[in-house]
Amino acid sequence: MSDVLNIDAILSAGLVDRVIYRQCVSSTNDLARELAATACRQECWLLVAEQQTAGRGRGDNRWWTGEGSLAFSLLVDPEHLGIHGPRLPMVSLAAAVAVVEASQPLVSGWKVGLHWPNDVYACGRKLAGILTEVLPDGRLIVGIGVNVNNRREQAPAEVAHRVCSLSELAGRPLDRTRVLAGIIAAQRGCWRTLAAEAGALAVRADALCLQHGQSLCIEAGGRRSEGVCRGIAEDGGLMLETAHGLRRFYSGVLV
Ligand code: BTN
Repeated sequence: MSDVLNIDAILSAGLVDRVIYRQCVSSTNDLARELAATACRQECWLLVAEQQTAGRGRGDNRWWTGEGSLAFSLLVDPEHLGIHGPRLPMVSLAAAVAVVEASQPLVSGWKVGLHWPNDVYACGRKLAGILTEVLPDGRLIVGIGVNVNNRREQAPAEVAHRVCSLSELAGRPLDRTRVLAGIIAAQRGCWRTLAAEAGALAVRADALCLQHGQSLCIEAGGRRSEGVCRGIAEDGGLMLETAHGLRRFYSGVLV
């Protein structure tokens, strides 16, 4: 059984005006999309569920929502947060920085960091993932899945060797309310930094990038590019030193 989430404590972290809690949904991103029309544009809504029957990842990926994990989506208007133009594509990166910075103190002794484009890793395994979707009216749905108290042994065989959880690293079960409230508070701070000084957010992301010096192959726009990772640029792009020089990537998949 998962510990019960304390909605008031989550609201007190700031950023979120309303919490919608469900036991089981297809995907919290889908729920956010369904309810978006009923949300006031200036409000930030948090949609959180214990189970997802069709949790989605980027591309064609599925997301395993193990018992004791956190699966939630933030429905936000980036304009209302002061995030415009070239800073918009950095919203997901800022969300990943928030998850890393909120998670790191919970698992001292382990390094938590970023895997491009916005995965959160520790000990070579995935701790959290982010799926950001844009609504026709420009609002964003930022879906975040975090492995908290879920157990790797219960994961489907195809993902079990690729994931880790905060409780596994901490060596004890964690209070999910504190984890979620910590992420929301960190998220508020990261989006504020992005709005005010995007370069400062990129510097933090670069410091957290775990792929510095690694050889990467990125598929973007139907083309593959290989090179050595040189971290995150001031505009949020991934810098890859290729045979044709230093190139920046803003989208794509690692292959
Ligand atoms: C990825 O790793 O590719 C992104 C995973 C994102 C998973 C979260 S869980 C909450 C929200 N609902 C979804 O269906 N997906 C996101």
